[in-house]
Amino acid sequence: MVRHFLRDDDLSPAEQAEILDLAEAMKKDRYGYRPYEGPKTVAVLFDKQSTRTRVSFAVGIGDLGGLPLIIDGGTSQLGRGEPIEDTARVLTRQVAAIVWRTSGQDRIEAMASASEIPVVNALTDSFHPCQVLADLQTIREHKGALTGLTLAYFGDGANNMAHSYLLGGATAGMHIRICAPGGYHPDPATVADAAAIAAATGGSVAVFDDPAAAARDADVLATDTWVSMGQEGKDERIAAFTPYQVNADRLADAAPGAIVLHCLPAYRGLEISADVLDGAQSVVWDEAENRLHAQKALLHWLDAR
Ligand code: CP
Ligand code: NVA
Repeated sequence: MVRHFLRDDDLSPAEQAEILDLAEAMKKDRYGYRPYEGPKTVAVLFDKQSTRTRVSFAVGIGDLGGLPLIIDGGTSQLGRGEPIEDTARVLTRQVAAIVWRTSGQDRIEAMASASEIPVVNALTDSFHPCQVLADLQTIREHKGALTGLTLAYFGDGANNMAHSYLLGGATAGMHIRICAPGGYHPDPATVADAAAIAAATGGSVAVFDDPAAAARDADVLATDTWVSMGQEGKDERIAAFTPYQVNADRLADAAPGAIVLHCLPAYRGLEISADVLDGAQSVVWDEAENRLHAQKALLHWLDAR
């Protein structure tokens, strides 16, 4: 039975831990794993812009002995309305896996429904699960464990990163706080899904309005852009989010030695102050590098199913 990675809770807690262990091993032995030797090809499609995801998948597929086929969705027939399911059927016959960055979660679900090879979510409007795998790897590196740690996320509580922190963090047994202004709280269904996972893993999930309360004694502070891809031009968002900036005040509220995550690209002076992003407690460059290792581990794990 082919496995897909469309949202963070497609992995059980044990499976997530297995992939994070593999990511750690692969980081130590970068060229020691060659499941795509042949080479097998992986199709990596982008309907939205990308730097980190594009580079880390292309480099990682190469490291695994495979051939990355990077496709700009707009120049493919998908961009002219060819059915997603037909695209999946064509790719199934020729490549080893499909990685796709697109808008609606329904689109990647449609791709998976007609695919006989693994489909990986490289960001949708709803979830960014590959990013959160890399974030979990980064937290483990710096804190030694995940279970029982508190991660507080500030800003747009209704975006892909907030939803993936809820599901991925709960799967890891973490306490996840999403702090956002009214009108930008996470999807209640995702909060409920994460709460159900947390009940089994010993974690918890909570939604906050008050930034100081959310940051209090947190082990990890995280944020993301206030204007996700596709939301450009909605300037009223900036005013709503201004009190939710991750800055020295929030770091002072957090636990001593707290680390700071940002999936990047970052907008200094908006969702995060420059001194914090570029400061000693920021681990964002490790986080960006870990996209490579976490995704290689994910692809290797999916290939072995
Ligand atoms: N963090 C992230 O996904 O970056 P890109 O948009 O550059 O791929
Ligand atoms: N929430 C952001 C993440 C970018 C990596 C977006 O969707 O644009």
